[in-house]
Amino acid sequence: MTSTLPFAELHLHLEGTLEPELVLELARRNAVDLPFRDVDSLRRAYAFADLQSFLDLYYANMAVLQRPEDFADMTRAYLTRAAASGVRHAEIMVDPQAHLARGVPLETVVDGIASVLATSERDHGVSTLLIAAFLRDRDEDEALDVLDRLLALDAPIVGIGLDSAEVGNPPSKFVRLFDRARTAGLHRVAHAGEEGPPSYVVDTLDLLQVERIDHGIRSLDDDALVARLVADQVPLTVCPLSNVALRAVDRIEDHPVLTMLDCGLHVSVHSDDPAYFGGYLDDNLAALTTALGMTDEQRRRLAAHSIQASFLPADRRDALLAEIDAPSD
Ligand code: HPA
Ligand code: ZN
Repeated sequence: MTSTLPFAELHLHLEGTLEPELVLELARRNAVDLPFRDVDSLRRAYAFADLQSFLDLYYANMAVLQRPEDFADMTRAYLTRAAASGVRHAEIMVDPQAHLARGVPLETVVDGIASVLATSERDHGVSTLLIAAFLRDRDEDEALDVLDRLLALDAPIVGIGLDSAEVGNPPSKFVRLFDRARTAGLHRVAHAGEEGPPSYVVDTLDLLQVERIDHGIRSLDDDALVARLVADQVPLTVCPLSNVALRAVDRIEDHPVLTMLDCGLHVSVHSDDPAYFGGYLDDNLAALTTALGMTDEQRRRLAAHSIQASFLPADRRDALLAEIDAPSD
């Protein structure tokens, strides 16, 4: 049965899982004044013209996250929903700088999230790893300082990412950050080619030496880059509903992800900021089935790619891959 295929969620911003109901509940709990009185008026604000218009609301809603239990509640809600959507492993990005800039201590963020992730496999059937994402519209010295503080805290992170406003904030800005992460033995991923040009994808590979590219769809504008990504089997974590919501792609019917898959790219499908973009992993897969006629075989390859591109230890990775190969009943 295809519905039991195991998937790894590799492109997920934890703060992007804050559903309107939880935003309002946490606002009440923490006496935070929001410009929205009810769920409907908040949902009506979820109409975006581009990445920046989304980021403005995404950062504004974070005001409700104040205490460790707020971060824990958000994490628990995501894992409950992710498990129901077929996710068996999640590599979760968090934006520490977005919280530090609001005066929320790093320990509050890390402890709240880590308290839930520590038992996620037992409680939700979802193994988890945490990635600290750095905001590319802020300067590199701040990122270096935050990385050092995370390491000093012994925060349970396995890697770093790079997110926020892409255009005008090229990968070349963060060479020292990614060098330091590599020296510290951390994995490295970065957003590239979401709104930015193919040259940002090339520089992200060459200058930052990442192991995965988040998004990468603009790579299709450069044939030589596509050939390289196929030859090197560089994982691209593609988020179809996000791309439509942020108008990187006009309509879901026009989304290139299955064409990318069939031309040999190592693409997988993820939900990015599911509370804001119309759905979780299962919603993304359902949209591909309905709008693009995704076949069971394509779905299996997307599942396998997601597990293969994960940072899981070999034993769990191989066990999940074996479930994909097993005959279905
Ligand atoms: N793109 C870039 N940065 C982000 C996103 C995104 O979709 N979500 C949260 N930070
Ligand atoms: Zn993203």
